[in-house]
Amino acid sequence: MTDTAVVMNEQSNNEQTQLGQYPDCRLSIAPMLDWTDRHCRYFHRLISERTQLYTEMVTTGAIIHGKGDYLAYNEEEHPLVLQLGGSNPAELAQCAKLAAERGYDEINLNVGCPSDRVQNGRFGACLMGEADLVAQCVSAMREVVDIPVSVKTRIGIDDQDSYEFLTDFIRIVSEKGGCEDFTIHARKAWLSGLSPKENREIPPLDYPRVYQLKQDFPHLTMGINGGVKTMAEIEAHLQHMDGVMVGREAYQNPYLLAEVDQRLYGLDKPVKKRREIVEAMFPYIERELAKGTYLNHISRHMLGLFQNMPGARQWRRHISENAHKPGSGIEVLEQAMAKIPAHLDV
Ligand SMILES: Cc1cc2nc3c(=O)[nH]c(=O)nc-3n(C[C@H](O)[C@H](O)[C@H](O)COP(=O)(O)O)c2cc1C
Repeated sequence: MTDTAVVMNEQSNNEQTQLGQYPDCRLSIAPMLDWTDRHCRYFHRLISERTQLYTEMVTTGAIIHGKGDYLAYNEEEHPLVLQLGGSNPAELAQCAKLAAERGYDEINLNVGCPSDRVQNGRFGACLMGEADLVAQCVSAMREVVDIPVSVKTRIGIDDQDSYEFLTDFIRIVSEKGGCEDFTIHARKAWLSGLSPKENREIPPLDYPRVYQLKQDFPHLTMGINGGVKTMAEIEAHLQHMDGVMVGREAYQNPYLLAEVDQRLYGLDKPVKKRREIVEAMFPYIERELAKGTYLNHISRHMLGLFQNMPGARQWRRHISENAHKPGSGIEVLEQAMAKIPAHLDV
């Protein structure tokens, strides 16, 4: 082999290794309680093979003391991040270890959720005011796992919303805790007075502040989150940031993900049509129904697939009115698809 061929070969080997380890978080779908369960993630994975997926937040208490298996997922969901809620370093470490053993690709600590229930447990967004404790939590988890440990946070809480407060938090958690990967929801949270829903809408988005943070911590991997709705917006944020996390829009309009593999990750393959995606869900749905899962627990995540298409409302309505009935199977989805005009190649 010539020297050039050796170099090229090494490069392609490196690329293969990198892709194999899924290090790339250019796009992720946000952790969303009650929304991004394993059925939802399986569905999203069919639309994009590269987008990083997050679980709903799982508390350390649920994992350690709960009766169910809170770490269950489908193998197809990789690359998959487990989001943990908690603030006890030893308990977080115990859960992180279990998660790494189960094959999760990354652990993420929730430092962004403002709900009252979460504050009583002293975790979520209120932890922004306890940077040293967050550093201890991250450090305890990093000691026991080889997979990355990241933090999802906001740009401030209550009156602690200066840029210095934010940079102090990032500095402490990265320097003392060893965290190298942050996702920043570009708005602050009010810890009292606003509901979690209002806290996702009322505090204004401040993208420039998050861009500035990436500039001031160029060695850290940083993703931006909040209010992103289109591929064009994702691509614009990627001019400034390492990654973009999309929440509500990806759930309500999942076909947003259709071109992600091609446009962001350069994969050479055709863009899947909506109908193909529905049909690709059938074997999974059949398997789940056979295990006793109800159709509507899966189909509820698919309601937005035909968003903005003629027939979208009828698709939605047919599923909503029928999927919960005992014995419902994939015929409900076939009938719902028949509501989309046949001449549309979508
Ligand atoms: C229904 C719902 C549940 C959520 N649950 C979580 C959660 O478990 N953990 C978390 O860090 N953020 C949670 N969030 C916040 C999202 O991860 C995200 O930060 C927020 O929605 C802003 O992004 P978006 O504007 O793209 O939706 C939730 C949001 C929604 C809408």
